[in-house]
Amino acid sequence: MTSPPVQAPHGTTPPPPPPRRGRAAVVVAVVVAVTVPVLIALVGAVALWWTGRTDTVGAVDFDRPLRVPTLAPATVEDGTRVFDLTMQTGRTDLTGRGEVETWGVDGAHLAPTLRVQRGERVRVDVRNDLPETSTLHWHGLHVPAASDGGPHRLIGPGRSWSPSWLVDQPAASGWYHPHAHGSTADHVRRGVYGMFLVDDPASAPPGLPDDYGVDDVPVMVQDVTLAGDGSIERGSGFLDVTGPLGDQLLVNGTVGPFLDVTTEAVRLRLLNASAARVYDFVLDDGRPMDLVATDGGLLPAPVRTGSVMLSPGERAEVVVRVEEGERVVLRSRPPDLGVAGIMVRMSGAGDRFDVLELRAADRLEPRPRTPTALAREPDVDLEDATVTRTFDLADGNQINGARMDMSRVDEVAETGTTEEWVVRNQDGMPHNFHLHGTSFVVAELAGSPPPPHLAGWKDTVLLPPGAAARLGVRHDAQPDPDAPFLYHCHLLAHHDQGMMGQLVVVEPGGEPGDVHDASHEAGATGTAGSSEADEAASLFPGATSHPDH
Ligand code: C2O
Ligand code: CU
Ligand code: CU
Repeated sequence: MTSPPVQAPHGTTPPPPPPRRGRAAVVVAVVVAVTVPVLIALVGAVALWWTGRTDTVGAVDFDRPLRVPTLAPATVEDGTRVFDLTMQTGRTDLTGRGEVETWGVDGAHLAPTLRVQRGERVRVDVRNDLPETSTLHWHGLHVPAASDGGPHRLIGPGRSWSPSWLVDQPAASGWYHPHAHGSTADHVRRGVYGMFLVDDPASAPPGLPDDYGVDDVPVMVQDVTLAGDGSIERGSGFLDVTGPLGDQLLVNGTVGPFLDVTTEAVRLRLLNASAARVYDFVLDDGRPMDLVATDGGLLPAPVRTGSVMLSPGERAEVVVRVEEGERVVLRSRPPDLGVAGIMVRMSGAGDRFDVLELRAADRLEPRPRTPTALAREPDVDLEDATVTRTFDLADGNQINGARMDMSRVDEVAETGTTEEWVVRNQDGMPHNFHLHGTSFVVAELAGSPPPPHLAGWKDTVLLPPGAAARLGVRHDAQPDPDAPFLYHCHLLAHHDQGMMGQLVVVEPGGEPGDVHDASHEAGATGTAGSSEADEAASLFPGATSHPDH
């Protein structure tokens, strides 16, 4: 109901202030003089921010050789390949403006590439010399849950952790990074990440470049914000609802990198190691690339494509052919994230970057054409699915209406089964979806059969607003009722906010155990519940680490 307008009777209007109030007028004038410009500046800043695009195309000097992470040395103990890694702080000159603090593994910044072969046993002895508790998670590796390095496998400062497993998965480009609850974005930003490559010599297609650092090169792309002294800032993230977006790329930690190419074809193993940014990689002259692998391994056949879109955590291997003496630039064009309005700005969908310059030598070593058959088609058939699970991503950082609780088991699956997972983005912003410990196939995306570039094994899939994916998930993990695998959005801000759930893989008919307790006792030596680990856990409550001797 509207009430009748109240009219002020004539004569009741207060008289104008007497001229004596000159002081008040001055105060008002001063307040106006101060606030109006501030307001104008604020509105201007918001408008600038809104319309602003990050665009480095043509503005990158390409004056630093691309750093290529070293291959981590390994020893062989009783048939087990053993890596010895130390997470550490250090100082790095990223920009030429002087050294700044960075974090890394076995070095001041970033981590060496681990390379293993299918069929061998692997152990990684990890020591944490960082000032903070952390973990190392093997993203894309098929490992037992207790060796997975999620937030239940904390390694306190000065502590160590020794996961081990039998490598049994197709050749793939995985990676590794910290995964402690709430600090993943921070530790990755500082530089703790590297590639983890699996080779499968028995089914390697002949003719694919595989000479590491020569014609087979990791390209880890991370956007950062650099402070005046060249240090990596936390990034404001103020209005970046998908997480902080940087305006500077580090490619294998290199600002403005070029790669000297000495072969007619070069295989780039692209990794999106960014917190929130999605890239749509192209070559500047529009030439096609051969997409040969995605997250979990080689595609059945190469896909000739002009662009490769990667969301945080995703990988793709492309073969690029070059001609003698030429220069070609790997670029990221504005990714189509299915967003409009201010969300374009907030998700970086309007941004573009020059990423890496390929400098072909005047004489190139010949390389054969990309083989036409690469790998067996993933053998997952949704007809075999015994269970359908639905995961709704909504409210910025929730899955099925909840945030992660480390002591809650959200899903229980039986090993040896195939399941249908329906993941729906019901949010107004992009998310992606990553599952630990196994690979899946994308059976359907946004209502259509998967495009050819999604025909292989995946572990992370991008979901624009409103999109849904139907995934075929095969649970092959060794059952462990006490150690959960995770599934989550890999946008690291969402990840840290707990947009994550826990999956326990049990034997047929099995029951989940107590996952919270498991964080105190399992996995420290890769053998869940070993007495050495139990002892260590009691020395460092809340961690699964053991003291170094
Ligand atoms: Cu890159 Cu939970 O993972
Ligand atoms: Cu992972
Ligand atoms: Cu998300």
